[in-house]
Amino acid sequence: MQTYHTLAEWRDYRRRLAAGLTLGFVPTMGSLHAGHLQLVRRARAENALVVVSIFVNPTQFGETEDFECYPRDLARDLEALHGLADVVFCPTADMIYPLGSSTCVEVAGISDMLLGAIRPGHFRGVATVVTKFLNLIQADRAYFGLKDYQQLQSIRRLVADLFMPTEIIALPTVREPDGLAMSSRNQRLSASERAAAVIIPKALEYAKVSTLSDPDRFEEAVRAFLAREPLAQVASVDVRDADTLEEISPMTKCAVLLLAVRFGTVLLIDQAELFLG
Ligand code: PAJ
Repeated sequence: MQTYHTLAEWRDYRRRLAAGLTLGFVPTMGSLHAGHLQLVRRARAENALVVVSIFVNPTQFGETEDFECYPRDLARDLEALHGLADVVFCPTADMIYPLGSSTCVEVAGISDMLLGAIRPGHFRGVATVVTKFLNLIQADRAYFGLKDYQQLQSIRRLVADLFMPTEIIALPTVREPDGLAMSSRNQRLSASERAAAVIIPKALEYAKVSTLSDPDRFEEAVRAFLAREPLAQVASVDVRDADTLEEISPMTKCAVLLLAVRFGTVLLIDQAELFLG
């Protein structure tokens, strides 16, 4: 496994790759857990070569958010990737955003709604960095988690809009034994918050067996379910069209429930697809 820290090293490797070898790419911010490794394993199974990027992207964090204290442990991440990835690419922020760089990518509509309204600028930062990485890596396939559903849909949109050749592949959420979605943010929960956070997967299960005839009442019922847990501060509960993320309409074939819930200062998100009968 090679570890590259500079764009020049990566570009040199990319230039020397034999034509016809497929390349799978998994972008991450490190602090790797089984959710990330599932993406890497799938990339391993479907491609001749696998590249994982580790880059804590400053532009997707708001001013009051957790960029500085985002967990970083490169040695541990490299160990987890050993035998799974061919290349780990971990550039510095100065390389990705050199002095004078001024181009942003904004997926209009999707970026501002839902979690984008709670975290202004977040999806612009994600779209910009993912565009940079997809252009640098030139992969055949790139792998993303369904957990970050709005992120996934905005990346699908930008790849289609900008005629990028990389195929986007989405994989289901990997969960802790009690159902909580794996996330590096879980480490920042206190013991009581961690125990309380199980209300999120429970609410998703509750939603999956409820009937969705009136979206407003459905959202209200999910909010009421989450409110049973005193430590849960509900930031948003939305039922949307799974493709467009717009409000559901008679055209909607598949809906998605998107949850954002705070425990103390930690914002957790999760989602479930709801099939309309
Ligand atoms: P990060 O939070 O490190 O996640 C990297 C990838 O792992 C994303 O596609 C995310 O959806 C997926 N992932 C995280 N937790 C998961 C889980 N429990 N199950 C399945 N997949 C999971 O998402 C980002 O980084 C960044 O925004 C990035 C795309 C790298 C751009 O900076």
